[in-house]
Amino acid sequence: MTCFADLPLVLQEQINHNDQAKPLDTKEALIEQEDFSQKVYLIECDQLAKLPSSDCESTFQQFITDPVSLTSLTAALVRLQEDCIKDEAANDGYNSAYYVDYLAALALQHRAVCHPYLWGMAAGTLPSLYAALQDFARHYYGYSAHFPRYLTALISKLENPEHRAALLENLTEESGQYEEEELMQLKEFGVQPEWIVGIPHPVLFKRFRNSLGVDNAAMDDDHIEVVCWREQFLAIMNTGSAAEALGALGLGTETIVQTIYQPFVEAIQKVGSIKPEDAVFFPLHTAVDDHHQATLKAIAIDFAATPAGRADLAKGMFKALALRDSFWSWLYARAQGENGT
Ligand SMILES: [Fe+2]
Repeated sequence: MTCFADLPLVLQEQINHNDQAKPLDTKEALIEQEDFSQKVYLIECDQLAKLPSSDCESTFQQFITDPVSLTSLTAALVRLQEDCIKDEAANDGYNSAYYVDYLAALALQHRAVCHPYLWGMAAGTLPSLYAALQDFARHYYGYSAHFPRYLTALISKLENPEHRAALLENLTEESGQYEEEELMQLKEFGVQPEWIVGIPHPVLFKRFRNSLGVDNAAMDDDHIEVVCWREQFLAIMNTGSAAEALGALGLGTETIVQTIYQPFVEAIQKVGSIKPEDAVFFPLHTAVDDHHQATLKAIAIDFAATPAGRADLAKGMFKALALRDSFWSWLYARAQGENGT
């Protein structure tokens, strides 16, 4: 892997102006965390650090009259970064399953999971828990009801027929079809078959919002925040690689579902007036999605066999988590009486 040698000669000369290339000792720190430096460091894998003595501003001023060289430098740095991510994945010493577990652990530590909105919902400390639950029910539907579309987009990207078959089973459950064994398991969670069999999950969520007095609205009436979340999520599913889409829907979504829905279960219990069959969407997902999570995780392990697959799994996961974090922050502000309605 190199960067400097790829650059045009004229650019190499510019960077080498007052250059003080020197060998870099193993683990030598060029800059400590939280320190500030304007120096430009160009580090190569042959352990030569090229350190222009001029500061950042004057170094880059040399590029003002030569935008083509600046573009070359930027492109070379991007290539270098991509190579680093791939090398890191190839040499991190983890096996694929360990790597997927590592990503899943990161997902559970993300602010999308450990968000003050969720803490306030669980503890009942939001200014009006009932109103906050109503607001959640009103807006979350615009993202959640499109889950079958996200899943279908992912399935269409998978080349392995076994992967597709496993996720088609998840899609079937989204429409309200369950294996007998699953219904037995759900019963243990207090979920009665007659509440869910043959009823698509979006309809179950509608039942929940109706129980809170929230009317069903047309998709065109969805708030812009919800529309943006949905469309950006769909963009990951449609334009990303298969591994990226899997990272978003598997590691960045299904992995955290049990944890993020638990605060709503607790809030529903605190409110007390919602019948179990009207709130069944939540225990259904904390139980059934455990199995969905395992399916998606198994597929992710196959994709984590290559450095590029690992990098894309991580990218999709972090994108999905960032989108959800942003949505929680919006709902949190509303629950606190900010941001209008
Ligand atoms: Fe579902």
